[in-house]
Amino acid sequence: MKELTISTTFKIYEQLSELPSAVFSLMESAVSARNNAYSPYSKFNVGAALLLDNGKVVIGSNQENAAYPSGLCAERVAIFQAGALYPQAKIKTMAITATSQNHKVIDPIPPCGACRQSIAEYETRQSDEIEIYFMGEEGAIMKSDSLSDLLPLMFKKSHL
Ligand code: THU
Repeated sequence: MKELTISTTFKIYEQLSELPSAVFSLMESAVSARNNAYSPYSKFNVGAALLLDNGKVVIGSNQENAAYPSGLCAERVAIFQAGALYPQAKIKTMAITATSQNHKVIDPIPPCGACRQSIAEYETRQSDEIEIYFMGEEGAIMKSDSLSDLLPLMFKKSHL
């Protein structure tokens, strides 16, 4: 028996002003995307913004449904839109922010498991890492340099 230890490192920015300016702007796009969330059930509004290598910014917000599983998270709305609009472009950076109509969200909100798997597909497809910055509505911003830091041992097409 052997043991495998996997460690990941995240960067923590205490406030928005510490972010590189392009990321600060991208987070502003995520905040504005958050305002278009359709979240009558969870009252939890998530915004995501992607910066592509062609300079385009693509946004997404969570879109809920009375049949709960039919709704979709902000991150997947954004990456699927990027894939549909700019299939040749690479996603460089993702910014995520969330707020709640019930309480103040001060913890950085990472992408859920299903979104991590979906983002992993795009990272594999483009053979380039996607940096991910995530925050609540205020407080610290966390950054992972790559989706693989959020999803070690990811399942991908090479396993098929
Ligand atoms: N949600 C996202 O948009 N992204 C995540 O990574 C986590 C959860 C949404 C889905 C649902 O509309 C609401 O937040 C509560 O789960």
